[in-house]
Amino acid sequence: AYPIAVLASGRGSNLAALIEAQRAGALPVAFTLVASDKADARALRIAEAHGIPTLALDPRGYASRRDYDLDLFARIAATRPALVVLAGFMRILDADAVAPWHGRMLNIHPSLLPKYRGLHTHRRVLEAGDAEHGSSVHFVTAELDGGPVVAQARIAVAAGDTPETLAARLLPLEHRLLVASVALIAAGRLGLGADGPWLDGRPLRAPLQL
Ligand code: GAR
Repeated sequence: AYPIAVLASGRGSNLAALIEAQRAGALPVAFTLVASDKADARALRIAEAHGIPTLALDPRGYASRRDYDLDLFARIAATRPALVVLAGFMRILDADAVAPWHGRMLNIHPSLLPKYRGLHTHRRVLEAGDAEHGSSVHFVTAELDGGPVVAQARIAVAAGDTPETLAARLLPLEHRLLVASVALIAAGRLGLGADGPWLDGRPLRAPLQL
């Protein structure tokens, strides 16, 4: 099985979707670690319930963000994952901690990148009057939510939508999107090369629509 580590700060529904797919035989991965910056993250409880090794690492007590990130990723590296998946990990990462994982770290972000990097994406979509919203899976670079996008899922914005209704409608699509993206990488079908993302050995010209 393809070894992956997952970082999550909160609820952990995307982690749960990965675990569920793996248990169902639809995702041939092995979880080396689930790590969180929040000791009370539900994601950690989900991992524990499935016998997956966990790490709660509190950023307080580190002299700098950089010190924390380097320690966190040293601990992740010690579990030997081939891929790190950011599944609702809500911290900005230091460039030097991210660099060794170029092409080996994915993030899921709740917007149609390059639109709406950062926080409060559902609210910003409504404020902008967009007809469409969605979620993106991208390879992580030092630039926040700025790495190459490999796959997206879309929903229509409806009259009366609120940030909460948008988030709720998008979430099951995010689960599918993340599972499908990790499955492609685990199968060796999707990756990041010097010229950008590739799929089945050919340059990926536009994000997959999943
Ligand atoms: C998801 O909607 C994900 O796209 C978003 O957090 C949620 C995590 O939910 N990620 C970000 O905002 C990253 N900046 P979960 O904890 O239930 O998986």
